[in-house]
Amino acid sequence: MDPIVDLDFIDNRTPEQAAACDTKVTEETNTGKSRKLYIESYGCAMNFSDSEIVSSIMFDQGFDTTSEIEQADLVFLNTCSIREKAEQTVRNRLGQINYYKKKKPEMMIGILGCMAERLKKSLLEEEKIVDLVVGPDAYRDLPNLVNNVDSGQKAVNVLLSREETYADINPIRLNSNGVSAFISIMRGCDNMCSFCVVPFTRGRERSRDAYSIVREAEALVAQGYKEVTLLGQNVDSYKWASEDGAETVNFAQLLEKVALVAPNLRVRFSTSHPKDITDEVLHTMKKYDNICKYIHLPAQSGNSRVLELMNRTYDRAWYINRVDAIRNILGEDCGISSDMIAGFCSETEEEHQDTLSLMDYVQYDYSYMFFYSERPGTLAARKLEDDVPLEVKKRRLAEIIEKQRETSLARNQRDVGKVHKVLVEGFSKKSEEQLSGRNDQNKVVIFDKKHYKKGDYVNVFVHDCSVGTLFGEAVD
Ligand code: SAH
Ligand code: SF4
Ligand code: F3S
Repeated sequence: MDPIVDLDFIDNRTPEQAAACDTKVTEETNTGKSRKLYIESYGCAMNFSDSEIVSSIMFDQGFDTTSEIEQADLVFLNTCSIREKAEQTVRNRLGQINYYKKKKPEMMIGILGCMAERLKKSLLEEEKIVDLVVGPDAYRDLPNLVNNVDSGQKAVNVLLSREETYADINPIRLNSNGVSAFISIMRGCDNMCSFCVVPFTRGRERSRDAYSIVREAEALVAQGYKEVTLLGQNVDSYKWASEDGAETVNFAQLLEKVALVAPNLRVRFSTSHPKDITDEVLHTMKKYDNICKYIHLPAQSGNSRVLELMNRTYDRAWYINRVDAIRNILGEDCGISSDMIAGFCSETEEEHQDTLSLMDYVQYDYSYMFFYSERPGTLAARKLEDDVPLEVKKRRLAEIIEKQRETSLARNQRDVGKVHKVLVEGFSKKSEEQLSGRNDQNKVVIFDKKHYKKGDYVNVFVHDCSVGTLFGEAVD
């Protein structure tokens, strides 16, 4: 898959990574229930994972899921507030959904997730077709709220919680290909990066019971899954204690417990915060073959003054130290990716150059790249001036994207001529004669199908590459 480049975004992700950022509609459950739920997810993997929890809660209330909006009695949009554009996308979508609602006036429309939390009941006034507004910690209240709408009232619950982790809810795997699944290990974020709306939309950080995570991984293995991705905004600050306090589990220890569930279960995780990633985590990764050698380590900027304004609580030297630790402990082949923000408040041309030089130093396999979008209520919106002109932001972003294309290609070229162990996720986008999967470093590998199928581990000799994909042939 070649990357689609636009000035806001570079897309050289696997279908699953793309799914974690783009809309995806519900898979069908079709068990003959009387009513149907259609749910679309936007934003990060946490939202996609939450939609699986929501579907499970609504299933118990008599709702099958459908992928046909026309069939739905209940339509949920699980929304994202991270950038202005993300919210605009949802508002535009509501305009389209209005068309379906006109044809079927009894259709209920709910806004879930981060926009619901940020805008609260004002969403009901701004978007007349919306019946329910439900924040990310209030999903257990959905049956009750839907009953309210059934009896003719609008319904809002945006209470945040310090405890809710939905640990006991068995997600309906809407976003899964049957090979790879998400497991949320924590919720919320306590970091207060100055540009970021997440602490306001997701509340305080809390870690989920380690043993409920292990049980979920075991259940997935029993169902034939081959890969899990442990999700949190900052997985390295995972910390759980048993009720009597006798046992505590940090992220390295959790990773080990999940790796031990089954030797052929691949374990991935996201996102690592540079301030918290420890050598202990890196050594645990090294110790277990089934923990993938790939780290998403968002830098945001390569300049220490800008990082301080962003309240990232590390500087360039610290970040480089963490990258060096990854290279020393896990070797040059460990995949590293980043998120970058172009044109943050008061960023100068020289400071922007520091981001480009950091990218040269690290040689990221890929990055998610954005220009700064001021979010109401954040520290930056309150204290800093959004003073880099849009044209400058866009030009800097284009330079960052171009740099990433070069490094992605260079990193992929290193993989040519080697054999990679690939977990097959399905057919390639272009042909059912070819399969697509990912190697340990999270890169997409395409090869001729032969007798292989979804869920197989296949050794693939890579003979060619593009910016976003490796091409090869099975050698088993
Ligand atoms: N918890 C993750 C990031 C989650 S948000 C971390 O700390 O790395 C995903 C990415 O969106 C961020 O890494 C950042 O690059 C981008 N982002 C967040 N707020 C933004 C804003 N106001 N403008 C532009 N990009 C933003
Ligand atoms: Fe946002 Fe920072 Fe928390 Fe990531 S760590 S979610 S960027 S506040
Ligand atoms: Fe968006 Fe909320 Fe995730 S703001 S990025 S959906 S935590």
